[in-house]
Amino acid sequence: LGAPLSLPSAFALVEPRLAPLREELPTLVAADHPALHEAARHFFTRGGKSFRPTLVLLASAAAAGGGEPSAAQARLAQVVEMIHAASLLHDDVIDLAETRRGAKAVHKMLGNKVAVLSGDFLLARATRLLARLGDAEVVGLMADVIDEMVAGEMMQAKATPKDLLSMEHYLHKTYRKTAALIALSCESAAVLGQHSAEVRAALQAYGRHLGIAYQLIDDLLDFTSRSSSPLCLPSPRVQSIPSPPSPPPLHTTHCPPPLASHATPYTRCTRLPPAAACSSDELGKPALSDLKQGLATAPTLFALQQFPQIEEVIVRRFSDEGDVAKVVEYITQSDGFNRTKELATNHSQRAAQAIGVLPPSASRDGLLRLCSDVLNRNA
Ligand code: FPP
Ligand code: MG
Ligand code: MG
Repeated sequence: LGAPLSLPSAFALVEPRLAPLREELPTLVAADHPALHEAARHFFTRGGKSFRPTLVLLASAAAAGGGEPSAAQARLAQVVEMIHAASLLHDDVIDLAETRRGAKAVHKMLGNKVAVLSGDFLLARATRLLARLGDAEVVGLMADVIDEMVAGEMMQAKATPKDLLSMEHYLHKTYRKTAALIALSCESAAVLGQHSAEVRAALQAYGRHLGIAYQLIDDLLDFTSRSSSPLCLPSPRVQSIPSPPSPPPLHTTHCPPPLASHATPYTRCTRLPPAAACSSDELGKPALSDLKQGLATAPTLFALQQFPQIEEVIVRRFSDEGDVAKVVEYITQSDGFNRTKELATNHSQRAAQAIGVLPPSASRDGLLRLCSDVLNRNA
């Protein structure tokens, strides 16, 4: 990844272009009914990182070797944020979430009906704006995004015991739920700029790997609440956990479309730095929420490779009393956190490699900087 800190901040690079787009979003989702209006606006008046619109703007500029994104590409950035917000409205209903970004979840304020319908409404507005751009291929790609996200949620909701134990299943689901939106948004930016198939493929691969790296770090952050984190508190040695055997080789992802693997062999790395220590307040959502929802993410699945005895706990989705604490203890004793970080690093490097075919520009540097930022974020 070169010398990431010398690269410009991706967010600073696009801020002048992004600010008016962000400000326009509440107007774009204006609705007659006050509850629908409030729910739809909710995400767009609370700030937030605007990670996805930033990516679309940077990808648009980088594909062209620099310069300003077109009006159509700027609109795409807004549409992508609307699809993302719609997915979160629905997700919080499905997950029975109490909070989102440090505030009450919309369904907790306005009820399930309004939350679901406002998600539908955002999708309708996003589709209309997209259709007006007059590029049927981009409409198709964004429909594919929604298709993938729904498929990813279904993979999660309907996982069999075998699926729950499979890293491959987990990574495929991660592609669908999280990375597809990023990958196909970056690709759509290239389509709107009428760039070559090579540039399209490069930006799609960039988004896919960055999205997977992003989610793997999210998995780690779920374990790092000050109140419960084994990384932040001296963790009590529970029971008699045997020393783990040497870990098997690094698992690489298999997400469609398949790519040649550039995985590096597994090497033992140091414990995560204190940057991983952040509270559930900083996250804006409860930590250990994945385990509490019955979800085994990458750290747990890596721990399983060293401690097969946690299989039954994973299959029963951590539902017995003490299961969450038990599995956290096993993960802490395993290389699960480090191997997750290492897999995220591997994907981040593959994202950076993918955009090597683009002409050098400040925007391409911004995309490269995101590859390292994604690994170092702590919220
Ligand atoms: C957050 O994941 C949710 C997603 C990444 C996607 C959710 C997708 C759907 C609900 C399908 C419907 C899609 C659309 C576009 C309407 P998480 O629950 O693992 O993480 P979080 O809640 O902690 O952010
Ligand atoms: Mg959720
Ligand atoms: Mg969810």
